[in-house]
Amino acid sequence: LDIALIGVPLDYGQSRRGVDMGPSAIRYAGAIKRLEAIGHSLTDEGDIQVSAIERRDREETNLKNLEEVVQATSKLANKVAEVVEKGHFPLVLGGDHSIAIGTIAGLTAKYNNLGVIWYDAHADMNTADTSPSGNIHGMPLAVTMGLGHEKLVNIFKDGQKVKPENIVIIGARSVDPGERELIKEKGVKVYSMHEIDRDGMTAVMKDAITYLQSKNLDGVHLSLDLDGLDPLYTPGVGTPVQGGISYRESHLAMEMLEDSNMITSAEFVEVNPILDEKNKTADVAVGLMGSLFGEKLL
Ligand code: ARG
Ligand code: MN
Ligand code: MN
Ligand code: MN
Repeated sequence: LDIALIGVPLDYGQSRRGVDMGPSAIRYAGAIKRLEAIGHSLTDEGDIQVSAIERRDREETNLKNLEEVVQATSKLANKVAEVVEKGHFPLVLGGDHSIAIGTIAGLTAKYNNLGVIWYDAHADMNTADTSPSGNIHGMPLAVTMGLGHEKLVNIFKDGQKVKPENIVIIGARSVDPGERELIKEKGVKVYSMHEIDRDGMTAVMKDAITYLQSKNLDGVHLSLDLDGLDPLYTPGVGTPVQGGISYRESHLAMEMLEDSNMITSAEFVEVNPILDEKNKTADVAVGLMGSLFGEKLL
């Protein structure tokens, strides 16, 4: 593959500073060498410029740092569109999960019927009306479906970017009441920890892959929030939730996605080095990239 690496040092989508250092931490953990060793060619596009200054003159909204998030995700969308149009595989490094708004918007420059795999403890399907926190990192999947603040929904192009039936959530274990309703109303496919515990990761991934294969997709984006894993393995995240996916299950999931040949873009988000233990979470992120991009033992 021709991988284009894009860093997004954005921490305005949530309330704990430090996740803006995620792209540095992931690069430091050896992402580039790891992917080149597999045989991929890699271009580091550097980081999207994010304003260091928080605006004070805010419009009336309960969304935190809306302007900063809109600016950064708009720039990211343009960059992602540019690299997919050149035929590269975008690999986006976060940053908090609000960046997915920009990544997915930019992908629509090439993909008309995109699928999304959301690997996460959370559904990230709040809107301004349902959000308990006002944190935009809890909203990107709703925005992608065309729901939420119009400034977010209309980034790159107006309205819905992905059909709800093309979305699969894996690892959910913390879902807010408004999100639960939206999941049911829109028919989003969710494999929660219950299904993973009951059926095993192999069965869950087989089912998820078969489901997406039935949708006539022209691309599938993997949006991997490191808090999808249990905090035992990825402590460096802002919103850890116990009872998560294991290290081994996660590698298996990445290997099955690699075998499926369906993934056309990916992002790894929510790595916060300030909250981490000796860069453990970034190390896990890079290991998972290895499996996703075809590292083989033998
Ligand atoms: N559901 C909570 C909220 O909306 C937490 C969201 C966590 N999202 C994340 N990308 N880590 O505030
Ligand atoms: Mn900052
Ligand atoms: Mn999460
Ligand atoms: Mn998330």
